[in-house]
Amino acid sequence: MKKDFWAERWADGRIGFHQPKAHDFLARYADRLRPASAVYVPLCGKSLDLVWLAGNIAPVLGTEFVRSAIDSFFAEQSDSATVTDVAPFRVHRGRKLSTIALFEGDAFALTPAVIAAALGGPGTVEAVYDRAALVALDPPTRDRYVAGLVGLLKPGGKILLVVFDYDGSKLDGPPWAVGPGEVERLFGDHGTVELLEERPEPVGARYRQAGVTAIWERAYLISLNSAST
Ligand SMILES: C[S@@+](CC[C@H](N)C(=O)[O-])C[C@H]1O[C@@H](n2cnc3c(N)ncnc32)[C@H](O)[C@@H]1O
Repeated sequence: MKKDFWAERWADGRIGFHQPKAHDFLARYADRLRPASAVYVPLCGKSLDLVWLAGNIAPVLGTEFVRSAIDSFFAEQSDSATVTDVAPFRVHRGRKLSTIALFEGDAFALTPAVIAAALGGPGTVEAVYDRAALVALDPPTRDRYVAGLVGLLKPGGKILLVVFDYDGSKLDGPPWAVGPGEVERLFGDHGTVELLEERPEPVGARYRQAGVTAIWERAYLISLNSAST
């Protein structure tokens, strides 16, 4: 989806994806991301998962192209950010939450060189947490998104992936349906895919009207090959 689409949703407060507390999958599965010196959270919104990960696992970097989402994140944490330009991003680092850096810009433009320029170090990370990111992207962009993630990860790196699945022939996303076959297709060549948990989600009115009878939320752990390409 184009930036305008998301900017409008943030401006109108149509952010039903935002959760009032950290995702409960984190307490159960984020340990599987260790050891990590940094966790990358793509398409991060103002998620409280950022705070949880920074407090419990490792320093966090996120990408988000809607500025107001980033401003709201820090304001709601009673924090403010220092902002630096690291082209093509503006990098917002918490003053109190100094281990959280939010990269304002298109997630598809993030590279190890940009991370290294902004934060120092090698620019690659050991861990990614994707909740409502892959499912937010138009299906034709998924392969490019996954190639980008793999390019940011060290060999042997881990991805904790949380996706929704439903009969995607009934209506379009976001969130788009991402089933087990699609997860395997996207990540299987890069490493092993482990289903950690699946559970039913309430089927909202928009879905019921379209004929969707079940929605599943699933968590996967993807462990990249140690010599991933
Ligand atoms: C469905 S929301 C999920 C937010 C967050 N992961 C959460 O769980 O609350 C997707 C977010 O990604 C942002 N976004 C979408 N495409 C993006 C892109 N290409 N680069 C950066 N941010 C993007 C949107 O503005 C939106 O805030």
